[in-house]
Amino acid sequence: MGKMFSVPRGTIDILPEQTYLWKKLEVTAARIIERYGYREIRTPLFEETELFAKCIGQTSDVVNKQMLNLAAQKQGCERTLKLSGLSLRPESTASIVRSYIKNNLDKKERLSKLYYIGPMFRGERPQRGRLRQFHQIGVEAIGPDSSVPYLDAEVIALAVHILEACGIRDFSLMINSLGSAEDKKRFSGILRRKIQPFLKDLCQDCQSRFERNVFRVLDCKNTRCRTVVRQITMNEDCLSDASRRYYADVCRALEDIGIPFKQDPFLVRGLDYYTHTVFEITSSGLGSQDALGAGGRYNHLVEQLGGPRIGAVGFALGIERMLLATGGQEDTPSRRTGAHIVVMDEQWFKDGFALLNRLRRDGIQTDMSFRTGSMKSLMRSADKNRARDVIILGEEELKKGTFSVKDMGTGVQSEMESYEKMKRHLERANHAENAHVR
Ligand code: HAM
Repeated sequence: MGKMFSVPRGTIDILPEQTYLWKKLEVTAARIIERYGYREIRTPLFEETELFAKCIGQTSDVVNKQMLNLAAQKQGCERTLKLSGLSLRPESTASIVRSYIKNNLDKKERLSKLYYIGPMFRGERPQRGRLRQFHQIGVEAIGPDSSVPYLDAEVIALAVHILEACGIRDFSLMINSLGSAEDKKRFSGILRRKIQPFLKDLCQDCQSRFERNVFRVLDCKNTRCRTVVRQITMNEDCLSDASRRYYADVCRALEDIGIPFKQDPFLVRGLDYYTHTVFEITSSGLGSQDALGAGGRYNHLVEQLGGPRIGAVGFALGIERMLLATGGQEDTPSRRTGAHIVVMDEQWFKDGFALLNRLRRDGIQTDMSFRTGSMKSLMRSADKNRARDVIILGEEELKKGTFSVKDMGTGVQSEMESYEKMKRHLERANHAENAHVR
């Protein structure tokens, strides 16, 4: 017997019963995002590894431990693929900033509002809500006109709006400000001073994080490190006056539009590029992987990648976690849709196939059983297909040029004397159905 292949660890097959839910969520999110003026951008699934290292940070877990690098294929290939130095994207912010600069978007508009939906890749230890290939819905607002507190508030309000529109209610929004690059330096100095007395209590990783990037200690999931972090209090204000004012304006804008949030002075995020506002949205029902989404402002990234000195702000929501939070309660739509042709004898397949093609070209969702059998078993197939109408093609119908149409909901069968009449009947049913869905 041949080898049975499994899905790679940390990845999933999304079967038709679930793609319905995925598409519904993606369409809902995209519709709302577009209402806020964002336009879709699609960038490659892989980029230069160095791009991610530069943006996300050499000391981050994402770059240090989770990057999925593409290996060079040398022997045995007709054409040598030059893949070394490339990695699957662990997130999209870096790629979008790269694309923004490369395509001179700053010369075309004062504010580029971009969104994306797609797979990301991180070599993490898989568990519930944590995959190696996962999917994000994200937005990035980049440009000379992006450095205003209202835009931070808009981006946060958008994330909340999407979650609510997808039926997710039980979540909390935490926000913090890291301040400017100078404020961040001050923050890191204060943290170092506070953590220093507990250094020996930290895990091995955090002892080196303490030297290289002390913010990472705050994110560590190790219980010993969490105990240390819980002991320290942050009563010093690391923010400059300007940064404090900016942060206060973001909070006020959120309050003004009734978005509830809590401030968390220890929220720092695991990616290096953030400055000023950072936020995270968590759901208590998700277990240890409780972040539905996160984001913040990154005012130096565009310049750091060789672009102009302009600010940016954005977020990404994890689709798998959003679906976990909705509880997947909804199933495949059980309502009946479209028409289904059944043919009583193989010799009439030709006529059935032509009718199938004509109806589809005329905009009617139609399918056909390419088999013969008893009327009962053919009807059973159409029923399994959740067909709304069954078109029966038998000797009599073909001789007379009529069509027998059975409504699978009511069980009523009617004879239609022409193709046009049947088409109108199916169109009416289609219309009624769509009106019901809207
Ligand atoms: P992030 O916090 O790394 O931020 O990821 C955002 C969301 O993606 C998480 O809150 C989570 O829902 C989901 N996610 C992350 N890793 C996994 C995983 N291994 N399995 C399943 N879901 C996962 C970013 O990616 C930033 N680029 C967000 C951003 C955009 N900041 C500014 N603009």
